Amino acid sequence: MSKPIPPRPGASAVRTRLAEILRVDHAGELGAVHIYQGQRAVLGAAKGRERIAAQLEEMEGHEAVHLARFDALLNERKVRPTLMTPVWRVAGFALGAGTALMGEKAAHACTEAVESVIEQHYAGQIAELSEQEPELAAQLSQFR
Ligand SMILES: [Fe+2]
Repeated sequence: MSKPIPPRPGASAVRTRLAEILRVDHAGELGAVHIYQGQRAVLGAAKGRERIAAQLEEMEGHEAVHLARFDALLNERKVRPTLMTPVWRVAGFALGAGTALMGEKAAHACTEAVESVIEQHYAGQIAELSEQEPELAAQLSQFR
């Protein structure tokens, strides 16, 4: 008699992990958009800060594109966004506005810190997904 074939590390486990990844990434992009909105709310209003206001607006635009892409991915894969969505909005905005109130340097430091964390975070996911979800891994490389 042949031995029963042990279940493969199930498709459902992979799906759960994938949902987790997409949900976290979506929250991250949502947070990023709101950090820039918070920074713009402060620096965009200040006289003589037109240059940085324009830069922030441009960066917010990039993050909005990322967010829209994750909105679509969540839809495609039938993954619900995190229940913390409202918290991310407020926390992102507060972080952006707070660091902007400390000045342009603090605002830049905040952006750089967040971006370097996100960069590492995506690098880990890309490595994890490259075999099973090469297409998604390729998309994530674009967001880095
Ligand atoms: Fe992004």
